[in-house]
Amino acid sequence: MAGRVPRAFVDNLLNRVDIVEVIDARVPLKKKGREYWACCPFHGEKTPSFSVSPNKQFYHCFGCQQSGNAIGFLMDYDHMEFVEAVETLAQQLGLEVPYEQGQGPRKPQGLDNLYDTLQDCSLFYQQQLKQSEMAIEYLRQRGISGQTAKEFAIGYAPSGWRSIKGDHKQLLEGGMLIEKDSGQHYDRFRNRLMFPIRDRRGRTIAFGGRVFNAEDNPKYLNSPETPVFHKGEEIYGLYELRKAVTQIDRIFVTEGYMDVVALVEHGFKTAVATLGTAINNAQIEKLFRSCKTLIFCFDGDAAGKNAAWRSLEQCLTSLKEGRLARFLFLPDGHDPDSFIRDQGASVFEQEIEKSATLTEFLFKTLLTECNVLSAEGKSQFLDRLRPYFMQIPLQSLKDQILIEVEKQLSIPLDNRLLLNLGETRNAEKSRTIIPENRWTAVKLAINLLLQKPQLGLGVGAQNHLAEASLPGVDLLLQLIDVIQEEPDITPQNLLSRFESSDHRLHLFQLAAVQPAMENDESIDLMFSDCLQRLQNKYIDLRRKQLIQKLQSGEQLTETEKIEHKQLFTKHF
Ligand code: UTP
Ligand code: MN
Repeated sequence: MAGRVPRAFVDNLLNRVDIVEVIDARVPLKKKGREYWACCPFHGEKTPSFSVSPNKQFYHCFGCQQSGNAIGFLMDYDHMEFVEAVETLAQQLGLEVPYEQGQGPRKPQGLDNLYDTLQDCSLFYQQQLKQSEMAIEYLRQRGISGQTAKEFAIGYAPSGWRSIKGDHKQLLEGGMLIEKDSGQHYDRFRNRLMFPIRDRRGRTIAFGGRVFNAEDNPKYLNSPETPVFHKGEEIYGLYELRKAVTQIDRIFVTEGYMDVVALVEHGFKTAVATLGTAINNAQIEKLFRSCKTLIFCFDGDAAGKNAAWRSLEQCLTSLKEGRLARFLFLPDGHDPDSFIRDQGASVFEQEIEKSATLTEFLFKTLLTECNVLSAEGKSQFLDRLRPYFMQIPLQSLKDQILIEVEKQLSIPLDNRLLLNLGETRNAEKSRTIIPENRWTAVKLAINLLLQKPQLGLGVGAQNHLAEASLPGVDLLLQLIDVIQEEPDITPQNLLSRFESSDHRLHLFQLAAVQPAMENDESIDLMFSDCLQRLQNKYIDLRRKQLIQKLQSGEQLTETEKIEHKQLFTKHF
């Protein structure tokens, strides 16, 4: 998505918009010092730890570590997609969003007709449903009320070969007609119960159609990929959910159209489904942006377990502060639709309470695969766990898993560290807020660069930063690279270059903390002091290395001899 709006425009937008205004309109802010503060809108708290920096144009919560720029705020707070957030801000500033050549905006001009055509099809099918006793009876048998059918705009595609009306070209492009070799056209959907698939704005973009007789094949026929329908990006029921529910506290992720409709019918208004494909991370992110708790619902059979495991894999990198994933397995032979019709809403609610947390499901699965009573089983278990564990960005969840490892495998902490699981734990620890008295030269240099990127223009290769091999130096060098490539870059644009970097969180945390120095001149002095300190570390390191080499009886090369002389005579 992000690629469709030119970066230069996003930069310009971020430079012109005032994040304080944007946030204050939604979450009233109070000025304290140079920053603005509020109680964090992303996690419950009583004292404000949510700060907004007018200088760097970003927000950061010291409690839950959420952070971002004005675009990110709209995405997280108003649940917007990237392009939508850009459009919203651009509109406020009276700017028109230019879209990259060939890609087209999210709603290219030429597609207006296609959306209209598909909407007309949907209305046609709804009309037809009213006239089909058979289809109405089918819905009744499946326990779907008229109201729910209307909410989901369920319709009926009549059995004729050529019933659907509208512009030929548009119908073809929208996947509603199939072209025979002879050049003739016929309706893709015939004698089927029709579920329109709508995008987040409510535009009809595709259909799923179910047969009435169990013998007919395929059970569900779906629209093909079209200019407006990309199966892997859409989520069935999300538009209807957002329309019906304002305060979303959990979302049920199911596998079928009927599961969504049946759950909604029984009062579980926040159900969605993927469209016959395994859920992917982009879809999970989309859902997590609407709500912090996802409950994945699966059949209790082997296929359900497999699908659940795939969902777990797709979830891991999205598990940030406050986000929860639970896994609900229904008794064998049941899906959410059949279960809730059979057992009713309150039994389903009990099942939800019994659903497994992500950690429980993870352990249960791995424990059935490895016999952890033996030493080999233990190490096999850890080998299986490691790749999943590494993907989790949230330290508290990692800690929880480590505690569980200790319990289930009876491995004391030290061994756990030996087995490599503890490593990221320590690395992550250093990512939490840096107390002011623990500014290392690298961290301070990064912080200062984020305040005044142009400091980085004076850093040359003679500083030997790369060779200093200190933690964080790679990030510092990346920042300097960006700055030297774009000498006029603003702090907010510099930060935005790292939006999808592994270092994003680290960087925002560093940017959020204010070191003591404030005026321009002292920033310059402080930065050169940092560079000097890093340089000294490099000198120390080189001195030690050369001494070691000499002590071990090795000869120095010619260049090393010169270096040796410099290192020990001249004070840098
Ligand atoms: P299911 O076969 O579990 O269907 O497929 P269901 O939702 O329980 O439907 P009912 O209860 O029999 O009416 C789950 C989903 O997989 C996709 C559809 O999106 C369906 O909702 N699917 C299934 C297809 O796309 N094509 C098929 O032939 C079958
Ligand atoms: Mn079903």
